Amino acid sequence: MALTRRSLVTVAALLLQLFFLAVPAAAAGQTGQVTVFWGRNKDEGSLREACDTGMYTMVVMSFLNVYGHGEHRLDLSGHPLGGIGGDIKHCQRNGVLVSLAIGGPGGAYSLLTNQSALGLFDHLWNTYLAGGGGSRSRKGGVARPFGDAVLDGVDFFLEHTTPAERYDVLAVELAKRSNVSGGRPLHLTATTRCAFPDQRAARALATGAFERIHVRFYDDDNCTQHWDDAWDRWTAAHPRSRIYFGLPAASEEDGRSGYVYPKSLYYGYIPVLQKAANYGGFMLWDRYSDKKSGYSGYVHSWA
Ligand SMILES: *[C@@H]1O[C@H](CO)[C@@H](O)[C@H](O)[C@H]1NC(C)=O
Ligand SMILES: *[C@@H]1O[C@H](CO)[C@@H](O)[C@H](O)[C@H]1NC(C)=O
Ligand SMILES: *[C@@H]1O[C@H](CO)[C@@H](O)[C@H](O)[C@H]1NC(C)=O
Repeated sequence: MALTRRSLVTVAALLLQLFFLAVPAAAAGQTGQVTVFWGRNKDEGSLREACDTGMYTMVVMSFLNVYGHGEHRLDLSGHPLGGIGGDIKHCQRNGVLVSLAIGGPGGAYSLLTNQSALGLFDHLWNTYLAGGGGSRSRKGGVARPFGDAVLDGVDFFLEHTTPAERYDVLAVELAKRSNVSGGRPLHLTATTRCAFPDQRAARALATGAFERIHVRFYDDDNCTQHWDDAWDRWTAAHPRSRIYFGLPAASEEDGRSGYVYPKSLYYGYIPVLQKAANYGGFMLWDRYSDKKSGYSGYVHSWA
């Protein structure tokens, strides 16, 4: 067994060398980018602690999962909101971007009309982004749970969404603010399912407004088996977006398929992924799993 494994590794290392000889000039190579989701389990520790590990370049808080009908609700699994504004600034000072995901597997959300899309834009802008300069704790009667901290971006994580919903209108409105002069750039990202295309996000992605797309290469056995085919489709379809390879940070024990052993990630996946000119980096689901497994230790050095 040990011999077989060793010879496999040797063969893989040789193949890796051959690959690097043949690598096209346009390959992205390493970017060092690792995005992690935070906010799905109180036991994962604080946002500040996540940033202080030095393992992540972006933390996506999840989720704002009630919207579209005049009501808005943020669900951070019981994390106390009080200290988060300070943690966001601490992360940003240390070069870690902090954004907020809308949607997710639970909650109650929809954007059936342009008006509801613009309403959500106003809410995001005034409550979490630079609305009113981000300098007050209230703006136009809107409470800012993180005070004057201004988030770096918004992530579209659309789980129960129909193709006709107006996420395109929201995306265009957010993208108009991606360049606020003197302000922080706004990073617009989407987190999609593995199989291409993901109809839930297709209308938003068709705007071309997304800087990054995190593709979830888990929770879909067929797609994770044919990951290289799906990767090619995503990277080819969105040449102007950076495509991130999304992985679970813990093995199947928590019922999530698609775990990739570190050795396999290094020899089997990394060379293929980093060949794409618009390879962006990795996305890990999630901080709670990663805190237990330490998986980001590998991903961080190989990304
Ligand atoms: C919604 O917005 C889109 C894009 O701006 C526009 O083309 C469309 O006509 C609008 N629909 C309605 C009902 O206003
Ligand atoms: C942002 O600014 C840059 C440089 O001025 C420009 O090239 C780019 O088109 C702008 N993007 C948007 C979305 O306005
Ligand atoms: C499985 O994935 C392959 C490769 O992406 C795709 O061509 C095929 O249609 C998928 N099969 C099913 C049943 O989804």
